[in-house]
Amino acid sequence: MSDEATPGFDPRRFKALERAGFNRIAARYADGAHLRAELADALLAAAGLAPGQRVLDLASGPGLLALRAAALVQPEGEVLATDIAEGMLAEGARRHPHASGLHFAAADAEHLCLADGSVDRVLAGLALFMFPHPEQALAEIRRVLAPGGSVTLSVWAERDAVPLIACAQACIARLLPAPKVARPSVFRFGAPEVLEALLRQAGFDTVHIQACDFTCRFDSAEDYWQAFLDLAGGAAESLARLPEATQQALRAEVGAELESFRSGNGAGYTLPARALVATARRAP
Ligand SMILES: C[S@@+](CC[C@H](N)C(=O)[O-])C[C@H]1O[C@@H](n2cnc3c(N)ncnc32)[C@H](O)[C@@H]1O
Repeated sequence: MSDEATPGFDPRRFKALERAGFNRIAARYADGAHLRAELADALLAAAGLAPGQRVLDLASGPGLLALRAAALVQPEGEVLATDIAEGMLAEGARRHPHASGLHFAAADAEHLCLADGSVDRVLAGLALFMFPHPEQALAEIRRVLAPGGSVTLSVWAERDAVPLIACAQACIARLLPAPKVARPSVFRFGAPEVLEALLRQAGFDTVHIQACDFTCRFDSAEDYWQAFLDLAGGAAESLARLPEATQQALRAEVGAELESFRSGNGAGYTLPARALVATARRAP
């Protein structure tokens, strides 16, 4: 998404809000990782990591993919986990102080301070849609990849396939005034053909995309809402600044919205989600 396409959109303010939000939720994001375990498994399986590789985990959050990648590239391989939110990285470093071959460094995905051709694999879980200039982040990924190297990333699929996120967003849209400046949609690369075109335009020659479907179970509507807040950095930051009465109204709205997702036995809720996992290669 270019700044010109959305009048008034300020990428620096947007990034600052995301950074503040993810710093705010760092520990809870790490605690909620089990909800997306199947997606992490699918991404790592697609990445084809092997011992000795140099890996960059971009927008790594608390280093969940990076930690597992580090085990896969041992011995001698190295993983660098980078993120714009230093609190996320600090959380990962605090939880895994002795992981060998795992390093953390704060970095904006659109401006990587790595040498050309210096990594064999790039991972980027649930991140591309957050970058104001995804094409610039992909150019940076391609630049730092060695020829023949590849990036494996995940993005949310189209809105209708992701009630896990869409339910919360629908409640927010109903109760709160529309934002003065539209945020880029987290579903904007959810159509496989859109994602493939973006990757090819960035110069990647081989592109494979597969869907990953999974479900998340919540005992209560409150648990669902908290899990949403623990995943959505910028939204969590904006919502935390609202008056308590508005936050309460949102929680009540979520309870009604979730009715159609009651689990079969009537206890709790089951929310489906679909993500796309894409692997794209830099030509040898
Ligand atoms: C949904 S989390 C995904 C974390 C991790 N990759 C995973 O799969 O669990 C998105 C991450 O992107 C980071 N992020 C957002 N904008 C970024 C940017 N411009 N550069 C680097 N990281 C960014 C956030 O701080 C957050 O940690």
